Amino acid sequence: MTAGTRRLPAGRVEEERFTFLADGVPVAAWPGESIAAALLAAARSPAYFCGMGVCWQCTVAVDGEVGVRACMTPAVPGMKVDTLPRRGPKA
Ligand code: FES
Repeated sequence: MTAGTRRLPAGRVEEERFTFLADGVPVAAWPGESIAAALLAAARSPAYFCGMGVCWQCTVAVDGEVGVRACMTPAVPGMKVDTLPRRGPKA
């Protein structure tokens, strides 16, 4: 078993997986999977606490937009995620 196949949802095939960039490194994700879930599976964890959009510990920048909650945002093919900027809720 290789990394990534352990979370292959029932009925899905490997070819559905796509990649996005996290801090310049390709990360594999499944359609519908959150950025945080893909980062955790790839051992590139953002700060992560509640996993349900409450604590704002998982904020990342997505394609230059800061303050995006990784646990609530689906991964999209080709997106660029920067895990370094940490900022709370938008004012
Ligand atoms: S982990 Fe709490 S808002 Fe994302």
